[in-house]
Amino acid sequence: MHEAVDKILVSQEAIMKRCQELGEEISDDYRKKNTVPYVVALLKGSVPFLAELVKHIDLDIQFDFMDVSSYEGTESIGDIKINKDLDCSVKGLSILLVEDIVDTGRTLKEVTKLLKNKGAEDVKVVSLLDKPDRRTVEIEADYVGFEIPNEFVIGFGLDYDQKYRNLPFVGVLKREYYE
Ligand code: IMP
Repeated sequence: MHEAVDKILVSQEAIMKRCQELGEEISDDYRKKNTVPYVVALLKGSVPFLAELVKHIDLDIQFDFMDVSSYEGTESIGDIKINKDLDCSVKGLSILLVEDIVDTGRTLKEVTKLLKNKGAEDVKVVSLLDKPDRRTVEIEADYVGFEIPNEFVIGFGLDYDQKYRNLPFVGVLKREYYE
């Protein structure tokens, strides 16, 4: 195990299996609605999750990226800043927003609002992780990989000061690394 990791919360095998389940569920849901989602992933944390998830979405999707800042160190900050906007207009589209983790929920709320303001017809959210104990705004992801306790986690896209995103599992960061 990596020296920065206190314990593994979600193994690589569990993530692979869950991505397959989520991909199948998403494909079924959109097929029933006769819609193909425009997949929007939030940089950078959602990239490993997006890469695994889309292999299991059996629809002719397109994906695009947005980069918003909402996090510094281990504390979420209020307003989001758009560092990279989408390449295309989302007017009239059904968006599937891909997130790494829903923590306070502020990022999700702001980005969802923004996409609706840009004319998106529908915005659904899929998040690899959910920390419900930390929520400060009322918002839930439509599809969640794993609910986790209130711990600072790294790996499978999640970082601490931009490091550890490449770990193939989700683990708890050792306290001495940020205290
Ligand atoms: P929210 O706006 O508070 O929901 O924060 C969402 C963002 O905070 C996520 O997209 C992550 O980038 C970051 N974040 C929240 N919790 C963690 C964590 O435990 N480890 C790493 N990043 C986190």
